[in-house]
Amino acid sequence: MENMPHASTLNTLNLADFEQGSKIGEGTYGTVHSATIRGTNEKVALKQIKINADLEGVPSTCMREVTLLKELNHPNVVVLHDVIIQPTGSEKLYLVFEFIDQDLKMLLDKLRPNRLPMGYVKSFMQQLLNGLAYCHSHRVVHRDLKPQNLLVTNDGVIKLADFGLARAFSIPSRCYTHEVVTMWYRAPEVLLGTKMYSTGIDMWSLGCIFAECVKSDPLFDGDCEIDQLYKIFQLLGTPDDTTWPNVSKLPDYNMSFPKWPKKDLARVLVGMPEDGLAFIKEMFIYPPMYRITAKNALSHRFLRDVPRRLAPIPSLYKLKDGASSSTKRKSDGDPFGDDDSLAKRRN
Ligand SMILES: Nc1ncnc2c1ncn2[C@@H]1O[C@H](COP(=O)(O)OP(=O)(O)OP(=O)(O)O)[C@@H](O)[C@H]1O
Ligand SMILES: [Mg+2]
Repeated sequence: MENMPHASTLNTLNLADFEQGSKIGEGTYGTVHSATIRGTNEKVALKQIKINADLEGVPSTCMREVTLLKELNHPNVVVLHDVIIQPTGSEKLYLVFEFIDQDLKMLLDKLRPNRLPMGYVKSFMQQLLNGLAYCHSHRVVHRDLKPQNLLVTNDGVIKLADFGLARAFSIPSRCYTHEVVTMWYRAPEVLLGTKMYSTGIDMWSLGCIFAECVKSDPLFDGDCEIDQLYKIFQLLGTPDDTTWPNVSKLPDYNMSFPKWPKKDLARVLVGMPEDGLAFIKEMFIYPPMYRITAKNALSHRFLRDVPRRLAPIPSLYKLKDGASSSTKRKSDGDPFGDDDSLAKRRN
C-alpha cells in the first residue's frame, strides 16, 4: 500500500465537472470525447481508458507512470491536466488533456493530393525533437509515436500526445475494439523482440513520420510483424552481425531471413532534399545505440533554415481548395519560400 500514490494529487476534478461533447476518436485503450470544464468553459479532450483492474482497482504501477506524465511540462508535449479515477472496482480511468485542433494524420489526409510544404515539415521536426529531447532527458520514452499521436494547433504548434502511456498500460496487439494496433512506426529492435526499450525507438518512429510528411504516404506499411520487418529490410537492407552487432542474438531474429540489399532512399523519398536524406539516414541507423539522439538531431544541417513563423494551418487547406484539380503535388505553393532545395532537385 505504501507504493500507492495519494489519490488527491491526481483526482482534483470529478466527472461531474465536465460537460461531455462529441466523440473525437477511438484509440488503443479506449475512446476520446471532447468536453468542457463547467465553470471555466475550458475545452479538453477526455480519454477514457479501460484497464484490466482487479478488485483492488487501478494497478499502482500504472498510477505511478501516469503521475510521472503529469509532471512533464513542455510547449511541445500535450498537457495532461488531470487523471480521474473511478471508485474502486471500476475498470475505468479518465485522462484529461488540453484540446488540440487536429492530429497530423488528419492534416496530411486533408491536404492530399498536396503535400505538407517543406517549411512546415522542418518546423514540425524541430518542434517534435524539442519535445522528445525534453522527455528523453526526463527518462520518459514515448514508445508509440505515430501521426495520430501528434497533435497540431491551428497556429502550427505540434505536440506529442499520449507520452508514456505505452509504458503505463503496455501496448496490446489489438485495441479494445479488436482492431490491430499499427506497427508501421515500430523500431526494428522492438519487432525483433528486444527487451531493452531505449530512447532510440522514438527516433526510429520519428524517421518514419518524417518520411510520411514528405511522401504523404506511410513509408513502411506492414500488415503484421514479419511483413513490417521485411518492408524495412527491403529498403534498408537485411541486417546481420556486421551491419548491426549482435542482432542475431535478438529473440526473434532468424538466420533464414531473406537477404535484401540496401536500396537508395532518394528513389523512395521523391521530393526529399539532400540534407533531409542525410537527416533521415541518421534516424534509420540499425544499432539503436548509434542512432541519432533527439538532442543531437536538433543541430543537424537540415534544421539550419527552419522558418520562424508559419501561416495558420487553415490557410493550407485554402491553398488546396484554390488549386486546380491537377495531380501535381504542390511545393511551389509553399507560402514560406522555403523550397529552394526542393526546386533544385526537381530541375
Ligand atoms: N488532446 C486531444 N485533443 C484533440 N484531439 C485529440 C486529443 N487526444 C486525442 N485526440 C484525437 O482522438 C483520436 C483518438 O485518440 P487516441 O489517443 O485514443 O487514439 P490514437 O492516437 O489513434 O491511438 P493511441 O490510443 O494508440 O494513442 C486521436 O487520433 C486524435 O485525433
Ligand atoms: Mg493517441
